[in-house]
This record gives sequence, structure tokens and C-alpha cells, in this order.
Amino acid sequence: MNARIVDTPAWQALARHAEALRGKHLRRFFADDAQRFARFSLESEGLLFDYSKQRVDAEAMRLLADLARAADVRGWIERMFAGETVNESEGRAALHVALRSSAARWTLPSGEDAMPGIRTAREQMRRFCDAVRSGALRGYSGEPIRAVVNIGIGGSDLGPRMATAALAAFAHPSLRVRYVSNLDAADLARVLEELDPRSTLFIVTSKTFSTLETLTNAKSARDWLLAAAGDAADAAMERQFAAVTANAGEALRFGVAAGRIFAFADWVGGRFSLWSPVGLPLALAVGMDAFEHMLAGAERMDRHFREAPVERNLPLLMALIGLWNINFLGATNLSISPYSQSLRWLPEYLQQLDMESNGKSRRPDGAPVDAHTAPVVWGGAGSNTQHAYFQLLHQGGWLIPSDFIAFAESDQPLPGHHEKLLANCLAQAEALAFGSDSDDPLRACPGNQPSSTLLLPRLTPETLGLLLAAYEHKVCAQAAIWGINPFDQWGVELGKKLAARLLPAVEAAAPVDADASTAGLVAWLHRHRRSV
Ligand code: F6P
Repeated sequence: MNARIVDTPAWQALARHAEALRGKHLRRFFADDAQRFARFSLESEGLLFDYSKQRVDAEAMRLLADLARAADVRGWIERMFAGETVNESEGRAALHVALRSSAARWTLPSGEDAMPGIRTAREQMRRFCDAVRSGALRGYSGEPIRAVVNIGIGGSDLGPRMATAALAAFAHPSLRVRYVSNLDAADLARVLEELDPRSTLFIVTSKTFSTLETLTNAKSARDWLLAAAGDAADAAMERQFAAVTANAGEALRFGVAAGRIFAFADWVGGRFSLWSPVGLPLALAVGMDAFEHMLAGAERMDRHFREAPVERNLPLLMALIGLWNINFLGATNLSISPYSQSLRWLPEYLQQLDMESNGKSRRPDGAPVDAHTAPVVWGGAGSNTQHAYFQLLHQGGWLIPSDFIAFAESDQPLPGHHEKLLANCLAQAEALAFGSDSDDPLRACPGNQPSSTLLLPRLTPETLGLLLAAYEHKVCAQAAIWGINPFDQWGVELGKKLAARLLPAVEAAAPVDADASTAGLVAWLHRHRRSV
């Protein structure tokens, strides 16, 4: 195991430099350097990353590049691409990059070629998408499939959900694709309310096929379908249930037909799985050609990430800027503001990607990192958010860096909107950075709030792939620098175990094996539940 990153000379030099820059306002950074935009922005693969409104100077960037070298990020990237066991605690590789590869071969450390399996999965997806989208796949009564419901949670939900909304402009005109994730029956019930069991296809997406939320929803969906199908229950199950999983055995036991199981390898991490058959509901919505264009966009970013030098490496610069804000300026949050209604789910998707990957304080050898890691990631679609929480960003006094994301052209044809949307996006970043003076202290905006702006020509499958891959690599590069494993999530297990232990007491008035507060809450619930 390498030395802790906080003990390296590069880290200490950064701490000293941050101290030297303390109190320097973004107004000053810009006044000092007329070339600031050119110097602190980078365009790669058509994606512009402007970080000139971050509180960095040339020396900070030089020292951050040194930090990346001290952490041997490049070595880590090579190990990930080579299929080495970068997910140490689960003893696995993390090969989401292979899923979007167009290479003829991808040789794993075992000597095995990963590509034949990946290509077979893509072909199976294509055949299924063609059958559903053309109306050839029919339900138990002979009706063509008109609605698809994906049942999954976390990484088995957020990626395809976000991308389906993002690419709505490319979607099949008469195939509805819906997502159900919440254990709360209201989620499934509201979706089923608008659907016809004769023409609805369910996809149960779960890497483990053991997730409580997903199995509970899948069983209720199966009951709904089979009750409607009556004597045709076998045909309904065979034609109208599919599974996407790394645990085919459990999917078969659930009753999914073998030919409707879309398998993927255990080296696909849940929150990195959009590119695998987990993307099936998205591929059904937009077609397999568009899905493959998204893979191609991601592959372009993969190549850039692997090959570009640190100083010109877009995801690595995103990682270093984030790390500077967290570890050297003391930021604890990251606000994500896509100025795109189609990207309204992006903040939630990035929340899981960043916080479940890097929300850790121990290295794989158990030693503490001794530095803060993932920020609290949140956000929403601009311009709505301007009228909700931006007030706090402008005058709340917290240091909250933002990522602004926008497109030169709209993905919708209605005229008269997009220019206003863009003007607002740029204005917010400008207002946050420079603020405004006023004799009235209530009206003064202090500014000096850092942000990055990511611009793309247009929201398409390919540019979506580029953008998402850039964020994935950002998160992984940060993990490599902090020395943590971004691919496990042990912290979420405790709550699952406690819920299983509490369930008997919540279901019936069984004795509660819990602390006084939890026991008191259970007792109150029993007093107020009519059915118990
Ligand atoms: O509880 C967290 C988690 O394990 C995520 O990492 C994962 O994306 C999600 O649950 C769903 O898991 P599965 O795909 O196995 O149902």
C-alpha cells in the first residue's frame, strides 16, 4: 500500500499554497490575468470544461498535477483498464470501460477475452429491443407491448431512469418506459394505475437479485399481471417478465424465462452499470442504435482519460478541482446544476455515483484517509433551482462549489426558450463568482463562490455518454488519490440488517430488540395502525 496521500510533499505544498491564496477573491484572480479563461479551460471531445471561476492559479494547478503524479493516478487507471482487482474488498475488477469498448479483444489478467461476452449481451439486447419496438413481442392476449416498467433501485434504476429522461427527444413515440424503485407501494401503484396488464412488460433489474425493495415490487407486479392474465398466467410470465442480473439462478427461481434473462458479469459495479444490460429499458426507449451511440461517446472519453497528460486530462482536472475545494478550501458540498430539463435526474444519479463510491474514510488496508473525501452532492434542474435554493448560494455564507452544465442548442424545437435558459445559466455562475457591491448590506452579494461550467453542443446519446464517462472518471480519479476503493459500499449494509431485525416487530406486536427510542417509535406506530 502506498504512503498516505496526506503525508506526501505534494499534499503539504498544496496546503501551504491554499493558505497563501486565502482571502483572494475571484474578482482579483480575474483582474490579475486577462488570459484566465484560455488558461483555465479545456475542450476535449467537444466537451468544454471551464474552471476559470474556481479559486485556482497556475501554481495551484501545477501542484495539483504533482499530487496526481504522487498518487500514481495513471498507474491506477492502467490497472483498472487492465481488469486488475481494483475492487479489493470484493476481490473484483471494475470493467465498466470494457462495456463501451469497440475493441476486437479485451484481454483480462486471466488471459480470457472479455469482448465475446459483451458483444453477445449487446446482440441479445438488440434482438429484444427490435422485437418490442416493432410490436412483434406480444403479451398474453396478443396485444403488442406498449409500456415497459423497470423495477430496480440505486444503480439498477438511476442510470437508465436519468438517461431515458435525458434522451426523451430520441424515444419511441408510442412505447412508454416507466421506473419503479421505492419500497413504498405508492410508487408501483401509481405506475400500474395508468397501465394495461395485456400490453405491459416488466424488467426486474437487480445485480444481486436479492434487494428487498426490488423483490417486493417485482412480486407485487407479478401478482398484478397474473391476476389479470388468469388462465394465461404462464404465457404472461414467459412473455412479459424479463430480468437483468448477475444472479441468473435467482431470476429463474422467481419465474423469469431463461431466454428473457439478460446476464452481466460481477465486475460491473451497480452505479457504473448503465452501459451493461442494465441499460435495457433505456435501449427499449431510444433503440439499440442510439444506445450504442451513447457507448461510443463514453468510449471517446475513456480514450481521452487513459491517454491525455494530467494537465490536459478533462476528468482528471475535474477530480483535482473537486479535491482542491474539499481538502484545501474546506468545501463540504457540491451543487450540480444542469440547465436542461431533460437532465433533471442527473443530480440524483451523480449523488449515488459520487457519494456511494467515495463516501468513505478508510483505505482498503483499514487505515484512515485523514482527509475528507466525497462531498455532499445535490442539485436540480436550472432554472427551477434559481427560484428555490440559489438564494443560499448567493448570500448564505457557506462555501458551496457548483457545476453548471448546458448545451449550445436545445433538444426541443419550441423557439424563444433556449437563449433565455443559457443567459440565466451564465448569469448565475457570474453572479456567484463576482457578486455585487451595494450600500445596502441586504442587497450586497459577496461572490467568490467557485463554479465550473461544462458546455456541449447538444444533448444527444453520444454527448450524454461523454458527459457521464467524464463524471465516472472524475470520481474514480479522486478515489485513486485519496487511496480509497470507489467500488464497494459496506456502509449501506448495517441499515439493511437492522431493518430485517425490526420487521417482525413492525409487522406484529412482537417484542422489539432495539434501543429505547426505536422501541418507542415502534410502539407509537402500533397504536396508530388500524390493521395491526
Ligand atoms: O444498497 C446499495 C446497493 O447495493 C447499490 O450499490 C446498488 O446499486 C443497489 O443497492 C441495488 O442493488 P441490486 O442491483 O443488487 O438490486
